[in-house]
Amino acid sequence: MAVLITGIGELTTNDPELGKLRDAALVLDGETVAWAGPAAQAPDADERVDVEGRAVLPGWVDSHTHLVFAGDRTAEFEARMAGQAYAAGGIAVTVDATRAASDEQLAANLRRHVEEAAAQGTTCLETKTGYGLTVADEARSARIAGEVADEVTFLGAHLVPPGADAESYVDLVCGEMLDAVAPHVRWADVFCETGAFDEAQSARVLKAAAERGLGLRVHGNQLGEGPGVRLAVELDAASVDHCTYLSDADVEALASSNTVATVLPACDLSTRQSLAPARRLLDAGATVALASNANPGSSYTTSMAFCVTTAVLQMRMTVDEAVWSATAGGARALRRDDFGYLRPGARADVHVLDAPSTTHLAYRPGVPLTHAVWRKGAKLR
Ligand code: NIG
Repeated sequence: MAVLITGIGELTTNDPELGKLRDAALVLDGETVAWAGPAAQAPDADERVDVEGRAVLPGWVDSHTHLVFAGDRTAEFEARMAGQAYAAGGIAVTVDATRAASDEQLAANLRRHVEEAAAQGTTCLETKTGYGLTVADEARSARIAGEVADEVTFLGAHLVPPGADAESYVDLVCGEMLDAVAPHVRWADVFCETGAFDEAQSARVLKAAAERGLGLRVHGNQLGEGPGVRLAVELDAASVDHCTYLSDADVEALASSNTVATVLPACDLSTRQSLAPARRLLDAGATVALASNANPGSSYTTSMAFCVTTAVLQMRMTVDEAVWSATAGGARALRRDDFGYLRPGARADVHVLDAPSTTHLAYRPGVPLTHAVWRKGAKLR
């Protein structure tokens, strides 16, 4: 059944030819966009929905979350707000809770967060393993994630489990663990940072994953400058995520690569770090994605709107740049072009704001502006 969305005050298509349209219309046919253009030229459809002058944009593409978890880290957050520094070791608390949870509890928790995100306009979501850290726990995390999320990443190399020998653990990740998760995941990732995995260990994990045909992503440069960005670019990773501390060489490397710099402002704020230098990256010519990094430790929010608002008000991105980075940029970080756009053939993932333009995302910070959401052509709210 075809649905004509009409009365669109401002339509963000992210398509270079269609651009941003005023007085526009959109036709959804089943799971895809059939037509986008000026309202005066809109074709007929089975059903009409008048959005009465509101702004319409692609659903958010959240390309970085860690939502297969159980447990709570409120106490750690409170300690941080009282001055304690964020450290990779906090992950172990969630690992214990996740291992103790049943499959049903993990799946229910994941679904609850995905629904929470969708209600705020997120129509595509990547999520990761990384709170299991045994072959069995990583494999079940990957399987559960694959039942719910659009894109799944294996992050067995999130932390060396307390008490384990780092090199032996990397051997396990590169062998038996990768074999067990591979059927459920498209991506592999590594936390390349002091306190997690060093450059050589990270390279081993990424190369083993690439040999099995998985795409690569890297957690890098979150807590300080380091080899993460360089490694990601050298191995043609689809994205390097965090990018909070970058040298000039890192910025140049990203600008001349196919690797997307994914910045995670909610995480930077929640861990009391500086905000990632998105303006510097954009000015150098790098591709920037914005994502929530929703997880119970460093960034417990599913709000992409909050990330966009922060990117504009505090990271000096323009509204158009921030909206692109949170939609098409996220899709680019996942090496997809079937969502993140509103153009014929794209997935019918539509976000209607209760505002006349996307500018209101920054102009009205903190105000919930999601009016309606379609995902794969189905109206969610
Ligand atoms: O992206 N950096 C590593 N992993 C997560 C944090 C996970 C946690 O603290 O539980 C991140 O920030």
